[in-house]
Amino acid sequence: MSPNTNTYTGMVVLIFVHLYCMTLLTSSESELIECIPSEREALLRFKHHLTDPSNRLSSWNASNPNCCHWDYVVCSHLTFHVLHLHLNTTLSSEYDEYPFPIAVPLAYERSRFSGAINDSVVELKHLNYLDLSGNSFGGMQFPTFLFRITSLTHLDLSASGFYGNIPHQIGNLSNLLHLDLSYVAYGKLPHQIGNLTNLIHLGTSHMLY
Ligand SMILES: *[C@@H]1O[C@H](CO)[C@@H](O)[C@H](O)[C@H]1NC(C)=O
Ligand SMILES: *[C@@H]1O[C@H](CO)[C@@H](O)[C@H](O)[C@H]1NC(C)=O
Ligand SMILES: *[C@@H]1O[C@H](CO)[C@@H](O)[C@H](O)[C@H]1NC(C)=O
Ligand SMILES: *[C@@H]1O[C@H](CO)[C@@H](O)[C@H](O)[C@H]1NC(C)=O
Ligand SMILES: *[C@@H]1O[C@H](CO)[C@@H](O)[C@H](O)[C@H]1NC(C)=O
Repeated sequence: MSPNTNTYTGMVVLIFVHLYCMTLLTSSESELIECIPSEREALLRFKHHLTDPSNRLSSWNASNPNCCHWDYVVCSHLTFHVLHLHLNTTLSSEYDEYPFPIAVPLAYERSRFSGAINDSVVELKHLNYLDLSGNSFGGMQFPTFLFRITSLTHLDLSASGFYGNIPHQIGNLSNLLHLDLSYVAYGKLPHQIGNLTNLIHLGTSHMLY
């Protein structure tokens, strides 16, 4: 090979590398996000203990290993850690004008999560958004391990069915900006709530004693 051929080959290779990189950059950003295996296992364990009567979490399965593509899960585009879990069951706002309690549609009733909350969720060390509102964790006291997820900035437990006094460990969630405990039955706020100095929103409407 003459030096010229070498230069030519080098240029062709460079052009291909360039085109390949362009393809990577222009392909959908979310396709490149890969799930962290230990976090996938934690989510699968969490699902295993949850009751999901209308199979809303069907995408959470081992043959669909990229948990960043699962429904209700949001990962970081940079670190791939799970950041958000949107496990709320929100009644459409057309019911807002009805007094509480109301007869809710059967389809809504059937789509609510119930069962047990597994502490595997604590393994999601970067979780900052957890919404469990509108579900049917009836008869269950607050799982205190939820208050060990100190990365949380947004926690919505409104109308989740959890009841009883809010555990004092809530004072450890010092990064919280948004906390909603509306419609929590027999819930009293502990004085440690005063530790949450970053709170911008605290929802306590319709807390029933
Ligand atoms: C796993 O999730 C994928 C993607 O949502 C879905 O197409 C597939 O049917 C699921 N498998 C099971 C066994 O639920
Ligand atoms: C969960 O809440 C968000 C708003 O925070 C809403 O857009 C979404 O529809 C809700 N999901 C369900 C399944 O109710
Ligand atoms: C979470 O699940 C594991 C096994 O899947 C179980 O051993 C453990 O007791 C559960 N923890 C809670 C708090 O339910
Ligand atoms: C949480 O807060 C309590 C006091 O409310 C404290 O005793 C405990 O050490 C804190 N830390 C953890 C990790 O629970
Ligand atoms: C209050 O928050 C700090 C962190 O900012 C934490 O070390 C402490 O344990 C918390 N205290 C209570 C009573 O929760």
